[in-house]
Amino acid sequence: MAHSALLRTFGKTWMKPLTLVALIAPFAFIAWQLFQVLSDPLSDAMGTDPVAYIHQFLGDTAIRILLITLAISPIRDITGWAPIALIRRRIGLAAFFYAGLHMIAYLWLDRGWDLGLLWEDMVVRTYIMLGMASLVLMVPLAVTSNNSMIRRLGRRAWDRLHWLIYPLAILAVAHNLLMVKIIYGDPLIHAAILALLLGWRVARWVIGKLRAPAAAA
Ligand code: HEM
Repeated sequence: MAHSALLRTFGKTWMKPLTLVALIAPFAFIAWQLFQVLSDPLSDAMGTDPVAYIHQFLGDTAIRILLITLAISPIRDITGWAPIALIRRRIGLAAFFYAGLHMIAYLWLDRGWDLGLLWEDMVVRTYIMLGMASLVLMVPLAVTSNNSMIRRLGRRAWDRLHWLIYPLAILAVAHNLLMVKIIYGDPLIHAAILALLLGWRVARWVIGKLRAPAAAA
C-alpha cells in the first residue's frame, strides 16, 4: 500500500523533472568536455580524435534515447504503471534534439557547413543517406509533439502520424549497422534491442487478433 502511494507521488511530482535532468545530462557532459578541449588544446577530455568522439557520443546518445522512447509502451503494459507514458513525448523530443546536434556536428566539423558536400556524401555513402532519412522522419513527430497539435490533428491522425517512429528507428539502426565493416558490439546490441521492441509489438497485435474472435464467440 505504502509502496503504491510512493509510486503515485513519484509519478506526480518527481518523474517529469527527473527525466528532464537525465535527458539534459549528456548535453551538459559533452558541453563540459568541449569546453575543456577548447580552453586547453592539450586536454585529453575527448581522447585523441575529438571529432570522432563527438560523432560517436551524439550518435549513440540519439539512438539510445530513441530506443528508450520505444520501450515506454512495453514497460507500461508489462508493469501496468500508466503514468510512465507521460514522459514518452519528452524522451522522443530529446532523441530528435541529439540526432539534430549529431547532424549539425557532422555538417560543421566534417563538411564546413557546405550543404553540397553533405548531399554528395548522401549519394556516395548509403549510411549517411539512411541517417538523414531517419532524421527527416523525426521532424513531423517533433513538430507535432505538443498538446495543441494533438487537438488540431485529432488523436487518430496523430497516432497514425507517430507510427513513423517505427520506420525511422529501423533507418537509424541501419545507419548504425552499415557504417561498420564487421557487425558486432554496440550496433548489434542496438539492432537486437530494436528487434525485441518491434517483435513485442507484433506479438501483442497477433495475440489481440487471435483473442478478438474468441471473445466475440
Ligand atoms: C543527417 C543525418 C546524419 C548524419 C550526417 C550522420 C553521420 C554520422 C557519422 C559521420 C557517424 C560516424 C561514423 C564513423 O564513425 O565512421 C555517425 C555515427 C552514428 N550515428 Fe549518425 N548521422 C546522421 C543521423 C543519425 C541519426 C538520426 C541517428 C540515430 C537516431 C544516428 C546515430 C548514429 C550512431 C548510433 C552512430 C555510431 C556512433 C558510434 O560510433 O558509436 N545518426 N553518424
